[in-house]
Amino acid sequence: MPFPVQRPRRLRTSEAIRRLVRETHLTPSQFILPLFACPGDGVRRPITSMPGNAQLSVDELVREAEDCHKRGLGGVILFGIPAQKDEKASEAYAPDGITQRAIRATKKEVPGLLVITDVCNCEYTSHGHCGLIRDGAVDNDATLEWLAKTAVSHAEAGADIVAPSDMMDGRVGAIRQALDRAGYSQTPILSYAAKYASVFYGPFREAAESAPQFGDRRSYQMDPANGREALREIALDLEEGADMIMVKPALPYLDVIRAARDSFDVPLGAYQVSGEFSMIMAAAEKGWLDLDRTILESLMAIRRAGADFILTYFAKRAAELVA
Ligand code: PBG
Repeated sequence: MPFPVQRPRRLRTSEAIRRLVRETHLTPSQFILPLFACPGDGVRRPITSMPGNAQLSVDELVREAEDCHKRGLGGVILFGIPAQKDEKASEAYAPDGITQRAIRATKKEVPGLLVITDVCNCEYTSHGHCGLIRDGAVDNDATLEWLAKTAVSHAEAGADIVAPSDMMDGRVGAIRQALDRAGYSQTPILSYAAKYASVFYGPFREAAESAPQFGDRRSYQMDPANGREALREIALDLEEGADMIMVKPALPYLDVIRAARDSFDVPLGAYQVSGEFSMIMAAAEKGWLDLDRTILESLMAIRRAGADFILTYFAKRAAELVA
């Protein structure tokens, strides 16, 4: 053949054509904004390593939730920063804990907004680990009881979906059983099924004041070297009753998102975590990257890899950009 018959550029000549043949789309309903609830009234305490994000007292958080709803976001995921932390993570499962109050207020004032809750202990323990410490290590099975109690207390407060992020073995099963027994058989579980022990959670730990006081999380979160193991973790969570699964972080783990998409026909989320957000913000602040285009390309990449929805600190801005 003297000249190429196939010219892929034909389908790139105008925005109208590009739009027609585009394979992946972004809509506000795919974005979930993480929010941090803290004690007090009228409190908006900026998180310095995550520009534009703040710890919010419940009244302020409700206003933020209203804004999210107006913009058509898929929902919010709530994290709590308690006034008191202790060895037993007591406020994680206290009926009137900070997260439970934030859920109640949000569902009352903005009933149409989907409220997901992070179920974990690290924000509530004095040592910053995700469970009960016994002999210097996190005791898996004792921790399951706390998680189950926490999930039930969130459902009682009105949470639409509970999302365990602790990476204990058997947590999804324990939570499912506890929810069913308490009459919440209709509350779905979004499992942080493949959650890696990642450096990219750094800024979040400032936000949630949850950095471990000794050691690290590598005895429960996954080794970043392991891709196949993610499929095993996901399979186990689904067997235990997870309704939806999540991969976390997102952009450095696109291969894991793709593998999960190809192997499991359940709704798949990905968490563009704090470090991913802060890196982009920092580069944009320096003028090295165009913020809006970087937001869109990173979210598009995560969707292209196979994620149905994305937890992202860019949720509000991204919703505006794609509207
Ligand atoms: C644990 C939890 C963490 C994140 C979400 N849930 C932190 C951790 O595992 O240390 C990180 C989210 C982010 O970095 O944005 N409760």
